[in-house]
Amino acid sequence: MSIYSALELDLLISMDEIQDKIAKVVVQLETDYKGQEIVIVMIMKGAICLVADLIRAISLPCVVESIQASSYGAHGKTRGNLQIKGIESLDLFSKNVLLVDDIFDSGNTLFQVHQALAEKKPKSLKSLVLLSKNVSDLECQPDYILFSIENRFVVGYGLDYKEYYRGLKGIYLFKETASSLQ
Ligand code: IMP
Ligand code: MG
Repeated sequence: MSIYSALELDLLISMDEIQDKIAKVVVQLETDYKGQEIVIVMIMKGAICLVADLIRAISLPCVVESIQASSYGAHGKTRGNLQIKGIESLDLFSKNVLLVDDIFDSGNTLFQVHQALAEKKPKSLKSLVLLSKNVSDLECQPDYILFSIENRFVVGYGLDYKEYYRGLKGIYLFKETASSLQ
């Protein structure tokens, strides 16, 4: 069976709902950062679609930087060790930094990246996520959450299963089938 079989996916959040929510968060960001410049630090690869849409919707001057974080890699849903790359070369001193990730699950990725970015002494440091599963009891929660969802595995709009499905325009619940156990 193809890994792109439609039978494995149920639409959870449509492309239109995502775009509506982005328009709303942009209004909020433009108010919160009025007259200021921001540096968006995107966590690759999951934030790719969100950042692409965000920077085309926002009217604030913004610079985009990227770092890489991976905890699942090619292993599907089995979490591996968190690896973060690319922070060393960033100059964030005295900048308004907005950290953008695809999903806040255990919160471990955002927490660790947030700690590392704080050491760069930015003027301000906030975080924005597309989705939150609300399962984390970490004190450090994202400042902006586009959608809160139930604790199910999702794909699309940047989110992957074994590196596939990132290009889907909406967000889909991933259903287990005989071809996708792991
Ligand atoms: P955390 O460190 O547990 O918060 O996990 C964050 C990372 O795990 C995200 O940036 C995603 O790459 C990945 N992840 C967590 N839940 C899902 C999911 O439902 N689908 C796809 N990737 C996920
Ligand atoms: Mg991933």
